Parts: sequence; C-alpha cells; structure tokens
Amino acid sequence: MTGSQGQPNPLPAHEAAERRDWVAYFDRMQGKPPRATLLNAIERFGEIEPTDAPLALDLGCGDGRDTEALLDAGWRVWARDGHEDGIRRVRERSVCRLAIEQGRLDLGIAPFSEMNLPRAHLVNASFSLPFCAPGEFGGLWQRIDAAITPGGRFCGQLFGDRDGWSTLEDRTHLTRAETLTLFDQYILERLEEEDRPSRQAGSAHKHWHVFHIIARKQ
Ligand SMILES: C[S@@+](CC[C@H](N)C(=O)[O-])C[C@H]1O[C@@H](n2cnc3c(N)ncnc32)[C@H](O)[C@@H]1O
Repeated sequence: MTGSQGQPNPLPAHEAAERRDWVAYFDRMQGKPPRATLLNAIERFGEIEPTDAPLALDLGCGDGRDTEALLDAGWRVWARDGHEDGIRRVRERSVCRLAIEQGRLDLGIAPFSEMNLPRAHLVNASFSLPFCAPGEFGGLWQRIDAAITPGGRFCGQLFGDRDGWSTLEDRTHLTRAETLTLFDQYILERLEEEDRPSRQAGSAHKHWHVFHIIARKQ
C-alpha cells in the first residue's frame, strides 16, 4: 500500500483515525464501498423521482464514498468535511465533479462546530460524529435533529462508552441509554451494538463499541 505521496503508508485505518491522520486514513480507505447503514437507509426511501430529488446531508463525508452512492441513487447532496484533503478527493470522483457542475452537489470544508445545516430528508454521518469534541456534540445534535424533516432519517455510527478510544478527551462517546435518548422522537429502524475486541494484537489492538443506526423521525 502506498500513500498519497507515493510513499509506503503502513498505518492501519483505525490507527490513522485514532491519531486523526486523515490523509493516511483516506489512503487506506481508497476504493472502499459505501457504508452499509447508508445503503440500507437509501433503500428504505424507495424509488427517487429524478425531477423531485430529495436532499441528503453527508457530515464528515471523508473521501466521498457515501456522497457518490447518494448521487448515484438520485439524491441531491450537501457534503461537508473538516479536512481539505477529503474534499479534494470527493471532487476527484467523476460522479461528484459532474454533480457539482449540475448543481446536485454542494461541497465544502467546515468543522462540525460551523456547519449550518439545511433542512433535509436524510442526514448521513458515517463514523464521523465520534470525532466531534464532547463540548460541541450537544449543539451539533440539536442542529442535526432540527435539519431532519418529519418522515426523514438519520443514519450513521456513534461510539459507545466501552470503546477503546473513550479515554481520548477530544472524542464523543455515549452510553446506550444516552444514544437512545437522542432518538426519543424517532423510530429506530436499525440499532446494532458492536461490542467486541479487534482482531489485531499488541499496540494495534482496540476494543470496538459502536452503535450502527438508522432512525426515522416521526
Ligand atoms: C473516520 S472518518 C469517516 C469518513 C467517511 N464518512 C467514511 O465513512 O469513510 C471521519 C471523518 O470525520 C472528519 N472530521 C473529524 N473531525 C471533524 C470535525 N471536527 N469537523 C468536521 N469533520 C471532521 C474527518 O476529516 C474524516 O473525514
């Protein structure tokens, strides 16, 4: 595996994410398919009318693996990420470049704290919200909830309190009860709790505690 500068890049994806080395993370994730939670959420909306394409927000879109899938499925997309290299990689995808020209993709760099979210039928946040600082998460979640129209959906991941990174101060980790509280006004269509040790040994070992969520706003 070589990195974006053509140099060997041996860092496993989860170690890159632990260090917030997003360039190494994107290198590792190159060519990966869209996230299962997103694909399942798209399916739940059924056929999209091309003349009346609904809007999806992709928060912490990374290199655009989910953004591209949304566009392919006929959605309009508002995608934001805090890292300029992620946004550059989204723009390099031909589907995304074309969608920008057609006005179907609104793409930009922004930290979670400065995202003014437009109203949308779907908010997708794949493995990104745990990287929001704990002091900013409450406000961000209020904006996410306000953005989702009734009948619309949230899909993505939140990290649990038993996750190996829960001691890192700049991350948001929630208990199962705290997670459920966020979705008081939603029907939980999918809630999978992953709570398991990683397969790696030694310093690469990590305990994963992840909630995989699809929820529909009532
Ligand atoms: C683990 S990656 C996930 C990327 C992509 N959603 C995926 O599923 O592959 C986390 C993403 O969150 C972004 N991110 C982390 N902290 C952020 C912040 N404070 N504001 C905006 N984006 C942030 C990173 O740049 C990175 O692209």
